[in-house]
Amino acid sequence: MPVISKKGNSMPESPIRKLAPFADHAKKQGKHIYHLNIGQPDIKTPIEALDAVKNNALEIMAYSHSAGIESLRIKLANYYTKHNILVSSNDILITTGGSEALIFTMGSITDPGDEIIVPEPFYANYYSFAQQSNVKVVPVTSTLDNGFALPPIKDFETLITPKTKAILICNPGNPTGYLYSKKEIQELARIAIKHDLFIISDEVYREFVYDDMSHYSILQEEQLSNHAIVVDSVSKRYSMCGARIGALISKNKEVINTAMKFAQARLSPPLLAQIASEAALEVPETYYKETIAEYKSRRDTLISELKKIPNVKVATPQGAFYCIVELPVLDSEHFSQWLLDQFDVNQETIMLAPAAGFYSTPNTGKNQVRIAYVLNNNDLKKAISILKLALEKYLTLWN
Ligand SMILES: Cc1ncc(COP(=O)(O)O)c(C=O)c1O
Repeated sequence: MPVISKKGNSMPESPIRKLAPFADHAKKQGKHIYHLNIGQPDIKTPIEALDAVKNNALEIMAYSHSAGIESLRIKLANYYTKHNILVSSNDILITTGGSEALIFTMGSITDPGDEIIVPEPFYANYYSFAQQSNVKVVPVTSTLDNGFALPPIKDFETLITPKTKAILICNPGNPTGYLYSKKEIQELARIAIKHDLFIISDEVYREFVYDDMSHYSILQEEQLSNHAIVVDSVSKRYSMCGARIGALISKNKEVINTAMKFAQARLSPPLLAQIASEAALEVPETYYKETIAEYKSRRDTLISELKKIPNVKVATPQGAFYCIVELPVLDSEHFSQWLLDQFDVNQETIMLAPAAGFYSTPNTGKNQVRIAYVLNNNDLKKAISILKLALEKYLTLWN
C-alpha cells in the first residue's frame, strides 16, 4: 500500500465540521438543528451579483488573467480608497476565496520550519494552511476577560526567533469578534518594523463592525507598506461564500510578484464568480447599512439571552459575527456531541463549535464554544433557550 505523507496525516480536521456525523444522525432521527456552529450567513446575496451571472453574454467560459479581471481589481481598489486604504489595482491579486490568499501568502513568505505568531483563539484553518507550507504556528493567548484584546506586545516579542516570518491577525476576529484599535495596530506595526516581520491581516469581516466603531486596516499604516499583507473576501461581505472570490493585497511589489507565480500556476480565479463580485461592488450603501444593522441586532439578542444563563461568560463582540462563550462544563466537545446525540426540546436541538480547535496551546479553551450569530433573531432566541435547558440537564448528569 503506498504511504500517505506525514504532512497529510497531520492535517487537522475542521473543528467546525468535526461533529457533522452526529448532526446528520440527529437529522435522520427527525430533529431540527439550529446551526450556531458555522459562519454561513443567511443574508441574501445582492441581486446585482446574481443578475450579473444570469444576464451575461459570455460565449466562452475562458480563463481570466491570473491576477483576476482588471475591471474587478480597479473597482476593488476604488472600494478600498473610499475606505481610506490607498491601494491601486496593481497591489491586488484576485484569489479563489480568502483561503487561497492565505495559502499564497504563506507560500510566498515562508520556508519549511519558519514560524508565524498568531493570537489565539484563531480561525482554525490558519493551522491547516500553515501545515500545508510546513510552517509552525506559534500562539500567543488572548483572554475572554478583556474581550480577547491584543495580548501585551512583550508576549509577542518573547516569542520572536530567527525563524519568525510574520504575525497573523484577524481583524475583526473570527472566532472572538474583537476589533483591534488603531493603537493596537500601531503597536504591531512597531514590532513588525523593529524585527522586520510581515503582518498578515485577515480582514474578511472588515464591514462587520458595530456600535459606531470603525475598522482600522494595517494598510492604513504608511510605514508598513513593505510589511503589510491583507487578506480579503466577498464571502461574508456580500453573503457570497460559494462564489469563492477573495483577494491578496499588498504594496510590497516582491510579495505581489511572488504570489503572482502561485496565481499563474493555478491559472485563473473562477470567471463567473469574478463577474458576480464586480457587480456586488456596485451595491448601494444601504445594502451594507441594512446588513450591519441586522447583525448588530442579532448580536444584541444573542448576548442579552446568553447573559441570562447562570455561569455562562461572554465578551460582547464588536465585529464579525462570532463570539466565544465560556460554559460551566469541563469539556465542551463532549457537551456539543451530547446536544446532538442525546438532547432535544420538542425534537429541536443546537449545534455548537467546541472552541479548543481554535487554540493551538494544548488543553486551552476546553470549556468554551464558538457561536456564530447567522440566524435570525427569533431562531437565535429559541436556540439560546435550548442551550439554557440543555445546560441545566447536562450539569445534573455530568459535572
Ligand atoms: C477569518 C476567516 N478568514 C478567511 C476565511 C476564508 O474565507 P473564504 O475562503 O470563503 O473567502 C474565513 C471563512 O470563514 C474566515 O472566517
